Amino acid sequence: MSISFLDSYMSKIRVLPEILSNKIAAGEVVERPASVVKELVENAIDAGSTRIMVEIEQGGRKLIRVSDNGQGMGRDDALLCLERYATSKIASDPDLFAISTLGFRGEALPSIAAVSRFNLVTRASGADIGTRIDVAGGRINQVADTGAPVGTMITVAGLFYNTPARRKFLKSINTEMGHIADTIASMALCRPAIQFRLSHNNRVVKSWAAVSDPANRVADVLGASVRDALCPVDHRDEAVEVRGWVAAASLTRSTARGIYVFVNGRWVKDRIVRHAVFAGYSGRLMKGQYPVVVIFLKVPFDQVDVNVHPTKHEIRFVRQKQVHDTIRDAVFQGLKQSDPTRWNAPAPPRTRPSNQPVAVAEKHAGFRSSPASDGRQPVNFRPRSGSPRDVAPRNANDAIGRRKADERSTSLPPDPFPSGVSDGRQEPLWKPRFFADLTIIGQYKGTYIICESADGLILIDQHAAHERIVFETLKRQSAQQRPSAQRLLIPETIDLGFREAGILEKLAPALDRYGLEIDPFGGNTFAVKAVPTLLDSGDVAALVTELVEKAADIGVDADTETILDGCLMVMACHNAIRAHQRLSDIQISIMLEQLDICDNPSHCPHGRPIWIRWTLKNLEKQFHRIV
Ligand SMILES: Nc1ncnc2c1ncn2[C@@H]1O[C@H](COP(=O)(O)OP(=O)(O)OP(=O)(O)O)[C@@H](O)[C@H]1O
Ligand SMILES: [Mg+2]
Repeated sequence: MSISFLDSYMSKIRVLPEILSNKIAAGEVVERPASVVKELVENAIDAGSTRIMVEIEQGGRKLIRVSDNGQGMGRDDALLCLERYATSKIASDPDLFAISTLGFRGEALPSIAAVSRFNLVTRASGADIGTRIDVAGGRINQVADTGAPVGTMITVAGLFYNTPARRKFLKSINTEMGHIADTIASMALCRPAIQFRLSHNNRVVKSWAAVSDPANRVADVLGASVRDALCPVDHRDEAVEVRGWVAAASLTRSTARGIYVFVNGRWVKDRIVRHAVFAGYSGRLMKGQYPVVVIFLKVPFDQVDVNVHPTKHEIRFVRQKQVHDTIRDAVFQGLKQSDPTRWNAPAPPRTRPSNQPVAVAEKHAGFRSSPASDGRQPVNFRPRSGSPRDVAPRNANDAIGRRKADERSTSLPPDPFPSGVSDGRQEPLWKPRFFADLTIIGQYKGTYIICESADGLILIDQHAAHERIVFETLKRQSAQQRPSAQRLLIPETIDLGFREAGILEKLAPALDRYGLEIDPFGGNTFAVKAVPTLLDSGDVAALVTELVEKAADIGVDADTETILDGCLMVMACHNAIRAHQRLSDIQISIMLEQLDICDNPSHCPHGRPIWIRWTLKNLEKQFHRIV
């Protein structure tokens, strides 16, 4: 038999030496200095420490040292902890499905030690002497007794010194330091009772004292300006509990770095969780904006699998939908309070005061001309062209009073609860007034409404505001009953492309819910027979075409609600009053009144802000009246 023949039959598969397999594991666990910090700090937390110090040199390239005052280790454990799959945190199969510690895989320390010069000094409480172990590239060089305080100190020098390819991927000192600071910030947010200190090149960068109130830690870590925008979240649905804070949508980031979600004390960057947070902000954020949230989720340990990825940032929930919806609802509830117009609202009384004409205001959401045939149709509030405007301060209430007189003269019945619109069950019984109490100063460029509030100056984008009003009114009405529709004298026919026709065919029955009646008319042609009374019947063809485009954009596979919300946005945008359009006092005051009825009077359906405010203090600062 020739040698080469023998060769081909010899076994090619071999078990890798431990040092090599640890190096491979390090590829997953240790991506950069911040990963080392995360693993070491997690170990310190699991060890019950109350003080954790992190020292960094050269962004972690030169040195990373984490010292804690936790339970420490005896010599045997200190040696064992460097072995792969050696852990004190789980012992049996069932433990794997009820993990309450941050670590459990027993691979962090051997992985780190495989790609650095590693030094461990530790002393268990009750032990007279500590242990010191030196490791280089995964090989133990020295084990010795040493004097040491109770706790553990691990020093990682020359990270990736023996894997030059990895070292090449390290970014600048500032970038790596940024990641480290983020990692520590996340841990600190979740463990307010632990004191943390981070230093870089022997200079203390961050120091957070232990606090008993988690809100104080949030303020320490995220800054006072964030704290001021935060409002509490406290929501529970069966076994899932969500607590923490969400920031008003006026405070956003351009990256997801302000999203801190902790599941059972673990910081996760989970896709489902993130999606739920965004869903809770729905309609409040513009494309590319990210919210700031600090949320602590408690899920029964056996309902979450953290053993999905070596870094444990991703997790899997047994009841994914329940967790998703609970987070979404919690965020949504929290944000409702974040709206400054609601922020200081007193507790709702049992009945709605008579000065809250919800139903009446709803009827005017269209701002459009329509015959007051049955006394329940929208009154004509289309702006009179060229109506001159003065800029003397006027109170919205005066104008409302005048409007009410007008309504009486057009024989509108003074029924505050017209059938099916507001019977106290579908509508909140009470809504605080904010916009209706503003004093109207005037309109700027026919686009922005200028108002005065008790503590400052308010600028309202009239198109965004009206878009929101029409959007919510249609949504609210369709949830209660099919909104009133006006039949077109001659149905408007629309020819679409093949693909668009397919979309509209599917969409048409759902649009009927809003009073938009569209029937197939053979081939790719459709006939629009009725439009919601709230909408302008002027350019129906353009509206329907845009609706189809929107649905195509969202994707026909999305759920109906999402597609219909998209359609509502289009309808609202089409019918909202435009920029460069002069409004009368009455139109402005009705709009303000209607904003008070909206669930989200802060953002248009696309997420653009509706209004901005300058406080008097802020103005005085800018004029150097105060310092
Ligand atoms: N700072 C520390 N104080 C006390 N014991 C520690 C400390 N760091 C590590 N240990 C011990 O060493 C063991 C191994 O640590 P290692 O981080 O490698 O694994 P783990 O934490 O169990 O799991 P994971 O790999 O998921 O982090 C731990 O289970 C723990 O018993
Ligand atoms: Mg660990």
